[in-house]
Amino acid sequence: MELVRKVSGMQGISDRLMKEGKKIGFVPTMGYLHEGHLSLVRKAKELCDSVVVSIFVNPTQFVPGEDYERYPRDEERDRVLLDAAGVDFLFIPEVMEVYPSGYQTYAEVTEVSKGLCGNFRPGHFRGVATVVAKLFNMVKPHLAVFGEKDFQQLLVIKRMVEDLNFDIEIIPGVTVREEDGIAMSSRNAYLSPEDRKKAAVLYRSLMKGKESFESGERHASILCRTVKDSLESVSGISFQYVEIRDAGTLEKIEVVNRPTVIALASIVGGVRLIDNIIIGREKPF
Ligand code: PAJ
Repeated sequence: MELVRKVSGMQGISDRLMKEGKKIGFVPTMGYLHEGHLSLVRKAKELCDSVVVSIFVNPTQFVPGEDYERYPRDEERDRVLLDAAGVDFLFIPEVMEVYPSGYQTYAEVTEVSKGLCGNFRPGHFRGVATVVAKLFNMVKPHLAVFGEKDFQQLLVIKRMVEDLNFDIEIIPGVTVREEDGIAMSSRNAYLSPEDRKKAAVLYRSLMKGKESFESGERHASILCRTVKDSLESVSGISFQYVEIRDAGTLEKIEVVNRPTVIALASIVGGVRLIDNIIIGREKPF
């Protein structure tokens, strides 16, 4: 695995790979990697000839007061994991090169960024869209893989790629979970052992919603109530939102009659965790 730190270096490598006729797959990350990230790498490897992973803790997607400064970092460990996973290039650009002084250009996906996390993290998706657009221009991939764990982010990126005519295929990767169902996340490292146990209620609650749907319930408000009741049954857990939305557009829906996402954001011991589940995808209505 080759480590690349300069933008021009990365662009030069991608130009060479393209001349050689190689299909380039890309997995952008903020590091502190876990099995969820590695599952995206495996998917990129299956579909492409060369795989690039980036590690960049992107300052513009953190809202003031969030955890930018203390976001967990372990470059050495990440390098070992990515090397073992067969990644060809690890791209770690410097903040000053990505956002030099005088920087003033942003990508904004206006509608899909609204609601859900957009309500609680103003400017977050603008930062995500901007950095991903920039990384796309640095890595020039044919395909990029994004996790369904960050479902709104996935749809923001899909929309941006379509709207700005990026010639890049966006591939979703399913959420990888721990044994108790909690979605793997770099931020799980912030949880105390006690809160870590409590956090299992997030997925349990989503599963209750899914089970209710599978037993015939189609009213979004009732499914939503089921998930909220389950979350509220555990002390020390609060939620920012539980919402039921169209899984393609994120539009609000009242009756579930198409692929739908139940998405939530919860605060467990001061740590903000998000999760979601898709219903109505496997079975026809
Ligand atoms: P990060 O949180 O490091 O996540 C990188 C990628 O891994 C994202 O596509 C995310 O959805 C995916 N991912 C995270 N947890 C996962 C899990 N449990 N299962 C499957 N995939 C998972 O998301 C970001 O970084 C940033 O916003 C980024 C896109 C890199 C832009 O800065």
